[in-house]
Amino acid sequence: MERFIDLISRRVSRAFEEAGYEPSYGKVTVSNRPDLCQFQCNGAMPAAKTYRCAPIQIANAVAEKLQGDAMFKTASAVAPGFLNMDVSADFLRAYVAKMAVSEKFGLEADPDARTMVLDYGGPNVAKPLHVGHLRSAIIGESLKRIARCFGNKVIGDIHMGDWGLQMGLIIEEVRERQPNLPYFDESFTGEYPAEAPFTISELEEIYPTASGKSKVDEAFAERAHTATYKLQTGERGYRAIWDHIMRLSVEDLKKNYSALNVDFDVWLGESDAQPYIPGMIEDMKAKGITTESEGALVINVQEEADTKEVPPCILVKSDGATLYATTDLATIVQRMQDYQPRKLLYLTDKRQSLHFEQVFRAAKKAQIVPEDMELEHIGFGTMNGKDGKPFKTREGGVMRLERLIREITDYVRQKITENQVVDADQVDNTARLIAMAALKYGDLSNQPTKDYVFDLERFAAFEGNTGPYILYTIVRIKSILTKYGKTADPAALMAPETREATDLMLVMTRFADFMWQAYRDNAPNTICQYIYELAGAANKFYHETRILAEPDEAKKAGYVALMDLARQILEACIDLLGFEAPEKM
Ligand code: ARG
Repeated sequence: MERFIDLISRRVSRAFEEAGYEPSYGKVTVSNRPDLCQFQCNGAMPAAKTYRCAPIQIANAVAEKLQGDAMFKTASAVAPGFLNMDVSADFLRAYVAKMAVSEKFGLEADPDARTMVLDYGGPNVAKPLHVGHLRSAIIGESLKRIARCFGNKVIGDIHMGDWGLQMGLIIEEVRERQPNLPYFDESFTGEYPAEAPFTISELEEIYPTASGKSKVDEAFAERAHTATYKLQTGERGYRAIWDHIMRLSVEDLKKNYSALNVDFDVWLGESDAQPYIPGMIEDMKAKGITTESEGALVINVQEEADTKEVPPCILVKSDGATLYATTDLATIVQRMQDYQPRKLLYLTDKRQSLHFEQVFRAAKKAQIVPEDMELEHIGFGTMNGKDGKPFKTREGGVMRLERLIREITDYVRQKITENQVVDADQVDNTARLIAMAALKYGDLSNQPTKDYVFDLERFAAFEGNTGPYILYTIVRIKSILTKYGKTADPAALMAPETREATDLMLVMTRFADFMWQAYRDNAPNTICQYIYELAGAANKFYHETRILAEPDEAKKAGYVALMDLARQILEACIDLLGFEAPEKM
């Protein structure tokens, strides 16, 4: 569907032309003075310079061409040369009614839709998830849904950190505790046990213990390094322990992410990129783009236009170890081969910006990707506690995702239990849904690059710019529909008679504008801003209109249809943000 604002712009442009001026001056915007008019066009000002006359003269001529047009209720020239417009109720109704029966409310796919890989989540196996991983999962999931909504084929890859020192630390700690396990017996040639020598909760304790130990016990740290090296070079027993760690951790991660309503298409990790490294490095050497620097193999990525120093991308350290960047480059090789994407998008904490800049430059230099490949890193800010420091649990330790979700859910459960609206058997599920909305909207309503403060009471409030407020609006509409007893019929939508109905419809017409902005700028916060406005307009309409008490059946059906359309748009939007509404709250 052509966008509402574009329809109006097109009409006004034609009026410019009819009055003898360039049509390009006819661009219309939503009024920044809604008390005066709904839409405005300021084109007469620049046009006056071109045509050397007074702006008001042009505005008058254009306004005259718009008189009597069914699109407008009013179109008037105002000094010194503005065009102020209100659309007609019939035109507005027709547009909204068409939205109501169109797929995705008339939102069109991106004509340039493409295959892309979205690298998000990025948890480190066997290490606790921190707030950065939480944000990556929440923002990434939303960006994935938004991109898909515009017709892109998006492959969401969790890209686990599963190949680092943490694995060696765990192996060494397990050896200290159970030295007689066959994994540590080099002469063992049989089959290793199918059952892991630890449980997931033991694993959760083993890593921090080992990590702490490595900081005070140098010999232990040395052994962990060796174990990591041996694992990476294929030692059979270590690989078997690694398999156990992976199996338990992935199972646990899947549980965690599914509780967050976050869903990955592929569960690959750093380890999966390793087979691509030797060939990639050979190829880079053959292309002559690598250099030796203090025993290390690097690619220089500094460019002439740089105003700051961009250090070389290190591929292989002097001791033969490969690094984070090497793995990321090899992962690009794998992705190009397996999916032929046109875009790669990464979501991490903004502190990794330089890393990605180096990797992207190296990937282009090595021709792992074509020159016009879109490589993008979205570096997000930190979720802070009320003390302004990165969020921690009450005891001050690293955040455990499960804990955080449980705390929010408990808080919400108590609230809805006090309110006594929700049936007892629905309390748990409802609390879970509201908690998700509180957490995700609290995060997504901020511009991704900004830091924000996690504030449970504020995020979980039923009023204000919060997720629960949006859910509450949806639930309120659902309850109207239940009481109405029939299904809402979009054909019953009527030309708006009141300010509130008009405003609600006008917000609806802007749906596509906000969606495009969210998509183009990777900004789910734009969707939050939109639904906050839409929910506000729907609630105002609800308060100012006797909906179910309306004696005129046709009007009543029209009101209900309008409310229901608001509900549908709100629900579509929160689905793009990654949460959903309960039946009651
Ligand atoms: N595991 C990394 C971390 O915890 C994030 C991975 C991001 N993705 C990537 N391709 N580097 O910082």
